[in-house]
Amino acid sequence: MQNSEIKIGFITVSDRASRGEYEDLGGPAMQAWIKQALINDWVAVSKVIADEQTLIESTLVDMVDYQGCSLIVTTGGTGPAKRDVTPEATANVCEKILDGFAEQMRAVSLQYVPTAILSRQIAGTRGSCLIINLPGKPSAIGECLEAVFPAVPYCIDLIEGGYLETDEAFIKAFRPKHAVKK
Ligand code: MTE
Repeated sequence: MQNSEIKIGFITVSDRASRGEYEDLGGPAMQAWIKQALINDWVAVSKVIADEQTLIESTLVDMVDYQGCSLIVTTGGTGPAKRDVTPEATANVCEKILDGFAEQMRAVSLQYVPTAILSRQIAGTRGSCLIINLPGKPSAIGECLEAVFPAVPYCIDLIEGGYLETDEAFIKAFRPKHAVKK
């Protein structure tokens, strides 16, 4: 795959933001973080949707199977509240769950806030796409992405989603030597 074809999906899952009662801060925060992290070309696909499991699933499937995203980050709906179903939707559409991402995000988040334990965020792959759940709080986005992003480019190499390159001054990615393209 050519880098110019890399698409990244941003999904804000929030009843209130989807009704326009509340400004979507999470979507722009995720895009701003990725913009700082990546030096290769990429195109954003973004959506703000309600906390409805079938809608979250169909949005993820559309972004992976029809739009060809290599990476999707979601924000919101990961907690224990009755309407929080983002992890269930993600699990339903993924073929493989990468438990280490969730373990690392919660471990790092616990250094910031004791309620990090309330996030049920997961990550997994569907086809050539890596999907990562992030909590809804905008500050949690950078905290979690910083914790796992060093492993994201190589993960996307392995699932054949394209070659991501990071700005090492912002976030340094790790790849085994044989996987580095130069
Ligand atoms: N993780 C980080 N890094 N920073 C945070 O502020 N908030 C927690 C947790 N994880 C938080 C965090 C809180 S208070 C909740 S309720 C859960 O994420 C779930 O949030 P969500 O339902 O908005 O996804």
